[in-house]
Amino acid sequence: MKFAILGSGTGSNAKAILDAWKAGQLGKAEPVAIFSDKRDAPILRFGEVYGVPARYLDPGRFRTKLDPEAEQCYINAIRAAGADWVVLAGFMRVIKPAFLDAFPKRILNLHPSLLPSFKGLDGIGQAWDYGVKVTGCTVHYVTADLDGGPIIDQQAVRIEEGDTRETLEAKVHAAEHTLLPKVIARLSLS
Ligand code: GRF
Repeated sequence: MKFAILGSGTGSNAKAILDAWKAGQLGKAEPVAIFSDKRDAPILRFGEVYGVPARYLDPGRFRTKLDPEAEQCYINAIRAAGADWVVLAGFMRVIKPAFLDAFPKRILNLHPSLLPSFKGLDGIGQAWDYGVKVTGCTVHYVTADLDGGPIIDQQAVRIEEGDTRETLEAKVHAAEHTLLPKVIARLSLS
């Protein structure tokens, strides 16, 4: 199972995946490329650190999706890297049907809530503001239904007395860093 990681930001989940890989804990999965739609995204720095090719790919003229030419460019780059799976680790653009069709049932997303609760942006803040006592994170297949594809696995996080929005964020991110590599490893062995 060769996969590309797509991200727009910090890349802490990309780092968790790459650390698991280096530690021999990613089953038969192998990260073969990292791509970002942000030229200066910190996630791109992991390329050199871990010896995985990493580069910026121009997303085109839209803000929340790839334009059709950019989409084809992403598909070509992922294929050229030898990847047949795609892991979205904080990739802040909606994936449209042409991209989905290029990797059917082979695009994973990580979302920082227990779906189907708190879809969309700032899943952690939404859960905090709502006042739920348990939230967490979800890994799911990507479909045309935003944050609505089939759930693969979830990890719960309890909101304790004394937690703040910041401590909750740290707890959910820590859960993500455990869950995502575990799911990738499991899928690679199935
Ligand atoms: C994560 O919270 C993930 O659930 C969401 O975007 C965030 C990415 O964080 N989709 P990072 O860039 O991996 O640190």
